Amino acid sequence: ALLDDGPKPLKGRRVIVTSGPTHEPIDPVRYIANRSSGKQGHAIAAHLARLGADVTLVSGPVTIPDPAGVEVIRVESAREMLAAVTAALPADIGVFVAAVADWRVATSADNKIKKKEGEGPAPLALTENPDILKTVGHHENRPRLVVGFAAETADVIANAEAKLARKGADFIVANDVSPATGIMGGDRNRVRIVSKQGVEDWPDLSKDEVAERLAARIAEAFQA
Ligand code: CTP
Ligand code: CA
Repeated sequence: ALLDDGPKPLKGRRVIVTSGPTHEPIDPVRYIANRSSGKQGHAIAAHLARLGADVTLVSGPVTIPDPAGVEVIRVESAREMLAAVTAALPADIGVFVAAVADWRVATSADNKIKKKEGEGPAPLALTENPDILKTVGHHENRPRLVVGFAAETADVIANAEAKLARKGADFIVANDVSPATGIMGGDRNRVRIVSKQGVEDWPDLSKDEVAERLAARIAEAFQA
């Protein structure tokens, strides 16, 4: 195929990519989730595969099609995503694009929670989810290159630098998702690559162009 004609700098390299949201059940019919289409993570998985990588894409619930040339593992919750990612280790490279829900309901109900006449809703007790990127960034089988994302609405660089250190990542792909940018749910993205070496400002690109450029940047960093 046309797509397969280019150079293969990641040939034989194992890559894990997370994408999409996670769904955290409240009861059998309701859940808590972040907004995420999966477009950016799926495009990154496809472009890494194009560069010859052996890609495992661990995806939360999305409506977009599976990318070509990639093994897809579908999960619902953050805990399922963590289990699928650690089961896919060891890997050479990990790219954590998923918009993981930070909290889940402490005890989800086995049956649908019913409204009760004259009573307000019962409060939901939440508990923190595992941090998948942070777990892998500090894992005994840590991939040689670990890339995370940071969707921020303020103080983008400072927050991304803090995440780089806290999560044990080599790169944080930072983007400003404040409503005025129109990035959430759209097809475009403007990112900055934050690493110990400094900050790279990328222009406004389509999500597919960001993915292509990031896959190339990852291949370059991996070979260095
Ligand atoms: N991430 C993850 N597991 C989580 C939360 C986040 O793997 N439970 C990953 C995301 O996939 C992303 C990076 O960590 O690559 C940053 O996610 P983000 O939500 O921006 O960071 P948090 O540490 O959750 O901080 P906050 O939401 O408070 O900004
Ligand atoms: Ca978060």
